[in-house]
Amino acid sequence: MAKAKTAAKPTSRPSPAVPRINIGISEKDRASIAQGLARLLADTYTLYLTTHNFHWNVTGPMFNTLHTMFMAQYTELWNAVDPIAERIRSLGHTAPGSYAQFGRLASLPDAPAEPPRALEMVGVLVSGHEAVARTARELFPLADKAGDEPTADLLTQRLTVHEQTAWMLRSLLED
Ligand SMILES: [Fe+2]
Repeated sequence: MAKAKTAAKPTSRPSPAVPRINIGISEKDRASIAQGLARLLADTYTLYLTTHNFHWNVTGPMFNTLHTMFMAQYTELWNAVDPIAERIRSLGHTAPGSYAQFGRLASLPDAPAEPPRALEMVGVLVSGHEAVARTARELFPLADKAGDEPTADLLTQRLTVHEQTAWMLRSLLED
């Protein structure tokens, strides 16, 4: 006869209740900010992958300059996804982390199927950095109003990087 599975173990203790998140930001604001950060995460990851793709596939007389520049840029973007995802977790929500979710959430398109010419790659990345900046900027008033300083700080840092990188890339296209 099989042993009864319902017998309580003498050493078992009730698991402690998980305390509710109480950091001074309302549940509604935490949810809205987490949603905005999920979009920022998707945008950042998509731009990371496009930049790494261009690092692999760039050709032409500017190969060395662009190959090296794209490496610095994709490394920065790769390092940025973690703090964004972990801020979502700190607000009590789950971070998206699949290509399907990123595809639904991102405001910028996936990398082109065929590698464009070198300067067209630069143009795609200018638009990409500007799109991520718009996503970060759109969320800022909500984070500010909710008193969510860590998110506001993160958004400020990301805006600085994206606007500076867009300027540097744009300068390559100017005479
Ligand atoms: Fe490489």
